Amino acid sequence: MDFEHVLVVGAGQMGGGIAQVVAGSGRRVSLYDAAPGATEHGLDTMRKSLEKLAEKGGADADEVLGRVSAVDDLVPADLLIEAVIEDAAAKEDLFRRADEVLPEAAVLASNTSSIPITALAAVTGRPDRVIGMHFFNPVPVLELVEVIRAAQTSDETARAITALAEDLGKVPAQANDFPGFVSNRILMPFINDAAYALLEGVAEPEAIDTIAKLGFAHPMGPLALADLIGLDTCVAIMDVLHEGLGNPKYAPCPLLRQYVQAGRLGRKSGRGFYTYA
Ligand code: 3HC
Repeated sequence: MDFEHVLVVGAGQMGGGIAQVVAGSGRRVSLYDAAPGATEHGLDTMRKSLEKLAEKGGADADEVLGRVSAVDDLVPADLLIEAVIEDAAAKEDLFRRADEVLPEAAVLASNTSSIPITALAAVTGRPDRVIGMHFFNPVPVLELVEVIRAAQTSDETARAITALAEDLGKVPAQANDFPGFVSNRILMPFINDAAYALLEGVAEPEAIDTIAKLGFAHPMGPLALADLIGLDTCVAIMDVLHEGLGNPKYAPCPLLRQYVQAGRLGRKSGRGFYTYA
């Protein structure tokens, strides 16, 4: 399985980054997003990132972008990588439609942060060829791809997606399909506890982030990272962890939920724990 033509669905920060690294590996990419203007915005972001990387010796931005076509619906391809909103019903609907449009041999992969891959596989007629391929933001910079096997995923599919991740210049690590997989089962409680520390007046946001940055040598503090990921995404993941693992320690911090209700989603809305220009 060479996956010469990849359909990426969702042109937000994750989907755009995924399309960029796939095109950067020499593959042809079709990029689809149902929201008006989203694909154009995704392509603009890709150009800026590629230009930064080109200054450091990376591939020419025009050459990479020349392999990306904006499409206005799902199209047949060797592989789907889905990066739409973190909502189980939206992802299941997409997987049902993709199962009809993509050839029988194609693999359907999800970049979900936490939604069960086993449930997505179950809505298709090819559950052995469904898998999680979880990238990390910013996708062009971070090396990890968490490869998540559904209960139904075949060894052949897992091997092919692991090899693809390596070919994209990433480091794959395998996880099984339990809520939040490995990455978000560890990361989200960390972010959630930082939000509780703020809510309970333990420290100001800057102090909380400085303690994590300098005390644990993290590249950024948990509140700044939550703003980068999107507070709505953080709450959606905590809800999946809470429901799926049934442990009250995973309940989202009320402050996170309140910020989301107020439209404070992080960098993408201009305000989260911090305010952005
Ligand atoms: N494209 C290309 N280059 C980029 C880039 C992008 N999108 N974003 C940053 N860079 C480059 C910068 O140009 C810079 O290059 P230079 O060192 O040659 O000047 C370098 O990366 C570092 O960037 P900055 O100087 O702007 O700032 P930082 O040193 O703080 O790095 C960061 C920014 C890479 C975001 C770093 O802070 C970091 O790694 N933060 C942690 C991110 C993280 O944990 N992500 C995982 C989130 S969890 C997730 O995605 C999973 C989901 O399920 C929730």
